[in-house]
Amino acid sequence: MHVAVIPGDGTGPEVTAEAMKALGAVVERFDLDIDLEYYDIGGERYKRTGEVLPDAIVEEIGRADAVFLGAIGHPDVKPGILERGIILRLRREFDQYINLRPVKLYPGVETPIKGKGPEDIDFVVVRENTEGLYAGAGGFSAKGTEREVAVETSINTRHAVERCVRYAFELSETRPEKHVTFCGKTNVLVHSHDLWYRVFSEVAAEYPGVAADYANVDALCLWLVDAPERFDVIVTENMFGDIITDLGAVLQGGLGIAAGANLNPEGISMFEPIGGSAPKYTGTGKINPLAAIVAAAFLLQHTGHPEAGAALEAAVVEVAGSLDSMRAGRMGASTSEVGDRVVAAVSAAGPQ
Ligand code: IPM
Ligand code: MN
Repeated sequence: MHVAVIPGDGTGPEVTAEAMKALGAVVERFDLDIDLEYYDIGGERYKRTGEVLPDAIVEEIGRADAVFLGAIGHPDVKPGILERGIILRLRREFDQYINLRPVKLYPGVETPIKGKGPEDIDFVVVRENTEGLYAGAGGFSAKGTEREVAVETSINTRHAVERCVRYAFELSETRPEKHVTFCGKTNVLVHSHDLWYRVFSEVAAEYPGVAADYANVDALCLWLVDAPERFDVIVTENMFGDIITDLGAVLQGGLGIAAGANLNPEGISMFEPIGGSAPKYTGTGKINPLAAIVAAAFLLQHTGHPEAGAALEAAVVEVAGSLDSMRAGRMGASTSEVGDRVVAAVSAAGPQ
């Protein structure tokens, strides 16, 4: 298996190094054959050469079996250039139409939600990952003048909505609760979310064994904090999915542990920690690499190595429970010590 690795910006390379170290330990234990190809993409390259993501690299990555991404975003580069040009371009080029973001509180990890534990916080957000407000449709007129107009159009195609909703129901069938919630804003977005609601209802009818319900995004934010146990699979559009998964990340202990998978179930998927490049922590050894290591576990799980992926996730669960906090600088261990503990936990379990 060939994995394209993009360490990226800021703390991206530090967490990627730990994730690849942990992946190496699992590869050894399960006797897998995985080779890594590193790509120097991100803010530094852009500053040096003016290149964001050369087509030749996209083409090369297109021959890999999976992609691992550390973090993208540079304080000296105008917001949007790298994010749109790298992360969003890769998601779209490879038609990674599902952004799967499990929100799972591991035992021993602290949540800020009083009185809630791992049995309450265990749901998955299925975020549409190719369109909505992320499609890039829009423009300015009379830019810079008093009469300036800025338009950002949300694109919602039946094709993309349906494959996303269907994925959520298929996923739900594999989980004990069998419950899918569509998170939208049908009371205001009377075109795009009307389409979503109709497609959701049509697909739901094909899965009589799965309970289907609806929540407005604002109310859902309230319930996520107040009663997270209400949710199992949440399916939503791109922008709402972006927002609610940062809220989800904090429920599970913080961005230090939250990871996601950009999936093309028929093609090349990309795995990444949800957090960004954290410039403030760059090079300090304070950033938590567990989210990146969980992303590596997802990579294994979604590329035909479910046991190896489960073993790596189990090692993370063990190490997470031993840390003071998931937050940067408050773990009670350095970035590389955390990585070493995961390697030790993987190896301690012995050969398969
Ligand atoms: C995420 C990030 C990205 C997004 C940014 C960096 C483009 O916030 O993966 O959630 O908005 O999708
Ligand atoms: Mn985000």
